[in-house]
Amino acid sequence: MKDLFARIIENKGPLGKWASQAEGYFVFPKLEGPISNRMKFQGKEVITWSINDYLGMANLPEIKKVDGEAAAEYGAAYPMGARMMSGHTDFHEQLENELADFVHKESAYLLNFGYQGILSTIDALVSKDDIIVYDVDSHACIIDGVRLHMGKRFTFVHNDIESLKKNLERASKMAEQTGGGILVISEGVFGMRGEQGKLKEIVALKKEYNFRLLVDDAHGFGTLGKTGAGAGEEQGVQDDIDVYFATFAKSMAGIGAFLAADKEIIDYLKYNLRSQMFAKSLPMIYVKGVLKRLDMLRTKPELREKLWKNVNALQNGLKEKGFDIGTTTSCVTPVYLNGSIPEAMALVKDLRENYGIFCSIVVYPVIPKGMILLRMIPTTTHTLEDVAVTLEAFSAIRDRLQNGTYKRLSAAVAAAMGE
Ligand SMILES: Cc1ncc(COP(=O)(O)O)c(C=O)c1O
Repeated sequence: MKDLFARIIENKGPLGKWASQAEGYFVFPKLEGPISNRMKFQGKEVITWSINDYLGMANLPEIKKVDGEAAAEYGAAYPMGARMMSGHTDFHEQLENELADFVHKESAYLLNFGYQGILSTIDALVSKDDIIVYDVDSHACIIDGVRLHMGKRFTFVHNDIESLKKNLERASKMAEQTGGGILVISEGVFGMRGEQGKLKEIVALKKEYNFRLLVDDAHGFGTLGKTGAGAGEEQGVQDDIDVYFATFAKSMAGIGAFLAADKEIIDYLKYNLRSQMFAKSLPMIYVKGVLKRLDMLRTKPELREKLWKNVNALQNGLKEKGFDIGTTTSCVTPVYLNGSIPEAMALVKDLRENYGIFCSIVVYPVIPKGMILLRMIPTTTHTLEDVAVTLEAFSAIRDRLQNGTYKRLSAAVAAAMGE
């Protein structure tokens, strides 16, 4: 019989197999200094394009003051225990009420982490007789939530309404047999490519099919919509989203997340959401901290205005220079290039070492083989000068990619990797 660990030691997994070449630099890099447009990487200043602090709240003095005061008053532990048992406070309720108001829903419920929270939400919303229909490009937390489902599930082609219709047709027939209902899941913004989910078109299908809609708006909350209430507000369909989810880990520069829905549904979830029933309550530092962040979101539209000024400057500048930024309709700014993984590594190294630009690379298996995705996140803290410097650098690295410089530089790595 094989030792359980034998497979793990032999095969580190699709990403883990790059560890010896990538760790500490391409993955698990250490960015230092205050969270901002410019930070330090291996002792050198870099323009950071890979941090989801969209509204620049992470380092605002008025926010850090509230975080610090909450830490001094409550420590990192309070309240202890799960909400149901001993971890409930007036401030948790206050934050839930304010969040519900902000996203135009009757009720809201806090989650300790977005990932576990949405996973558990999917688990709580469906029984084995129900059918889930979800976008094939969904975030890992949705996929893992669907994995818990004991009944049928169908994927639809990413943002393809015809494919969704076809699957709703199948799901409706099946639901007739099982006696269950249908849960459709999409995202407000798909975080890799930056496309908004076609929420308007999805909710229009409610006229033809009977389903409930769960939307993960991790990247839309705070960045999209007239008031920052997210992709549903942006597309004018917030009322038709049955369960709205957003995290505090991006625009709110914190930790935690929330759900918002009709009171009846939130009341049900409070008693059936295993990630919250059996886990410690969100610490007060985050509850008080997010109350302050939400206040800033409501009262300082200039944060969002500046963010979009930077987004537009970056995206328009890239397009003018002939870069392929795909079909983004959000702040997430992907730049698609052609090249191998070793070439991508050489290119990113050049960007960091010679141009002082830090952005994330995404390669196969996350995107098709032979493609390089440089994923950029503009924030309120960036300046037009950051954008100009970056555009110049991108033009230079594209030239080198095309004239084979990175192929030559990475030949040894490519050979070692068997590429
Ligand atoms: C689309 C999406 N959903 C959910 C999550 C998970 O949220 P959290 O970081 O709060 O666990 C993320 C990533 O952070 C995300 O990008």
